[in-house]
Amino acid sequence: MSRQTPFLAALLDALGEPALIIDHGTVDAANLAARSLLGDAIIGRDVRIAIRHPQALDFILAGREASIDLVGIGSADRPWQMKINNIGRRLLLVRLSDRSGIVASERMRTDFVANASHELRTPLATLIGYGETLAEPGPLDEALRVRFGETINREARRMQRIVDDLMSLSRIEAERYRMPSDRVEMDDIAKASIQHMAELADQKNATIGLDADGGPHVVIGDAGQLGQVVDNLIGNALRYGCNERSTRIDVQVTRLGQRVRVSVRDYGDGIAPEHLPRLTERFYRVDPGRSRDSGGTGLGLAIVKHIVERHRGLMSIRSKPGAGTAVQVDLPAAEPDAVTKP
Ligand SMILES: Nc1ncnc2c1ncn2[C@@H]1O[C@H](COP(=O)(O)OP(=O)(O)OP(=O)(O)O)[C@@H](O)[C@H]1O
Ligand SMILES: [Mg+2]
Repeated sequence: MSRQTPFLAALLDALGEPALIIDHGTVDAANLAARSLLGDAIIGRDVRIAIRHPQALDFILAGREASIDLVGIGSADRPWQMKINNIGRRLLLVRLSDRSGIVASERMRTDFVANASHELRTPLATLIGYGETLAEPGPLDEALRVRFGETINREARRMQRIVDDLMSLSRIEAERYRMPSDRVEMDDIAKASIQHMAELADQKNATIGLDADGGPHVVIGDAGQLGQVVDNLIGNALRYGCNERSTRIDVQVTRLGQRVRVSVRDYGDGIAPEHLPRLTERFYRVDPGRSRDSGGTGLGLAIVKHIVERHRGLMSIRSKPGAGTAVQVDLPAAEPDAVTKP
């Protein structure tokens, strides 16, 4: 006779994740989550029929308290943590916690370390190779010496950019839960970024237009980080969004209700839809060769995403192959400064 009274059912449902009570090898009670994972009719069944997972059954049938990581209950590759508690009168409480999120973040961390090492190893191998050649005794042709020097310089700077960006990323992550507190005028940020990018714009023969009508466009933020956001977006538009057909970039700062929107738009080659969801991943590039040649580390949009999140904002990227790309960053607008200072 099952003990699944309405009170016990409510208690087990409140746990959220799948939970069962096992009495001498029979499922005595099970919450909604357990029933939708293992089947509606498991109450009253032999636990060996309800949970067809040999490793899990070994522990449950042994009747001892345990906490085990296992894979394959419900679907083939879903990871779970199973906790078994003895709750008296030889009853067992079995709970399953979904570990997919933890496993995915562990995976992201190991992928990140592997990617970062790979990115650093390539320029490092060049430096070692050239260093060894230079260390060999004997005269060296002047033109060759210059070429070696230039390559060493370029590769070392590349490593420096990667390390700088990684440090910037970890600083921003460390500050994730600390809200910035300065009042920042986004029009000024956009103007400063356009100035920072003037040299690159010249090289690309590009014109950057700014439309910042109807200000003020004040947000609460960290001016340095918000500058990094707009620098990155304009840099990308210049590097990847300018071609023979179009050398125009439009930067717009607008107020939309309670938000300030900064958008950077180009009319270049655009980005194929399958790449869009991955652009903010660290080291992800659509065309790795082209990005590396133009000095890109593939960390720019990951940095932008983290900064925008820290500012409780939203970023969206829309792009049409052949027509160009528009990146929008929406930030909560600051309340008007009501305090009149003496
Ligand atoms: N406006 C754009 N038009 C076309 N492709 C773009 C655009 N912006 C970004 N991309 C693509 O997205 C990739 C990732 O951009 P991201 O800014 O993260 O890295 P990066 O520019 O390669 O390096 P970094 O910003 O660190 O110098 C780029 O390599 C490029 O392939
Ligand atoms: Mg970039």
